[in-house]
Order: sequence, then C-alpha cells, then structure tokens
Amino acid sequence: MSIHFRSRGVRAALMATVRATALAGAVTGAVGAGSAAAQAEPSRGQLLYGNHCIACHDQRMHWRDQRRARDWESLRNWVRHWQGTQQLQWTDADIDEVARHLNDTIYRFPKPQSPRA
Ligand code: HEC
Repeated sequence: MSIHFRSRGVRAALMATVRATALAGAVTGAVGAGSAAAQAEPSRGQLLYGNHCIACHDQRMHWRDQRRARDWESLRNWVRHWQGTQQLQWTDADIDEVARHLNDTIYRFPKPQSPRA
C-alpha cells in the first residue's frame, strides 16, 4: 500500500471512515461490485478528506439543498479553497483525489475524462 500515514489522526479518521463506509454499504448494498472494491481499501482522497476535512463538516454539509458545489469544476474549486484555508498545501493531484472521492460518494457530477484514471 502506497499511502503514508502522516499523522496519528489518520488512524482515527480511518476508523471513522471505515465505520461510515460500512454503514453506507449496508444502505446502498445494491450499488455493485465497484463500490465493494472501493470499500475494501480507502482511497487516498478518502483518507485525506477524513483526516483534514471531516472535523468541521460531515456528509450532511454536502447533501444540503443549497449546495455550493454545482458541478465537477466548482467542486474541485471548493476542495482547493478549503485545503488553502487549512494551509495543507495539497498538490493538484491531492485536490483531484479528494474531489473525486466526494464526487464518487456524494455529488456524482459528470466529470471530464479523469486525468489519471
Ligand atoms: C473550519 C471548518 C472547515 C474545514 C476544516 C473544512 N470545511 Fe469545508 N466547509 C465548511 C463550511 C462552514 C462550509 C459551508 C460554506 C458556505 O456555505 O459558504 C463548507 C463547505 C464545503 C464544500 C461545499 C459544500 C457544498 O455546499 O456543496 C466543500 C466541497 C468543502 N467544504 C470541502 C472541504 C474540504 C475538501 C476540506 C478539507 C481540506 C474542508 N472542506 C474543510 C467548513 C470547513
């Protein structure tokens, strides 16, 4: 596994994510093999988000009626914005990973051909 744990917080975030994923899996069990594979090992985007972002807002924020993110581009801009406010200095790749994680799990905007599929 190529993910490097940067801080102890990752472990707690990972556990929270695993629990949340298990719950989501129970609710949306019919989604298919793709999501089952995704659940087996959290993506880098999932870990980054769980470690740095979830403290302030859980998934309800992204489900609300007045969503700020309206498409793939604006979602990515929001991720860029928030990692900036947290001074995380994420690379474009990190931003992509987290935006993809949020998009795959919540927003489901159509997105341009993923740059590094
Ligand atoms: C300091 C608390 C805080 C942290 C940390 C934080 N957020 Fe947020 N986030 C908010 C608040 C508050 C809003 C709602 C802003 C608004 O409505 O103007 C928001 C909104 C968003 C939205 C838009 C949601 C929508 O309406 O569709 C995205 C995407 C988002 N955050 C991503 C992130 C990511 C990625 C991180 C981690 C890098 C992060 N946030 C960290 C507080 C936080």
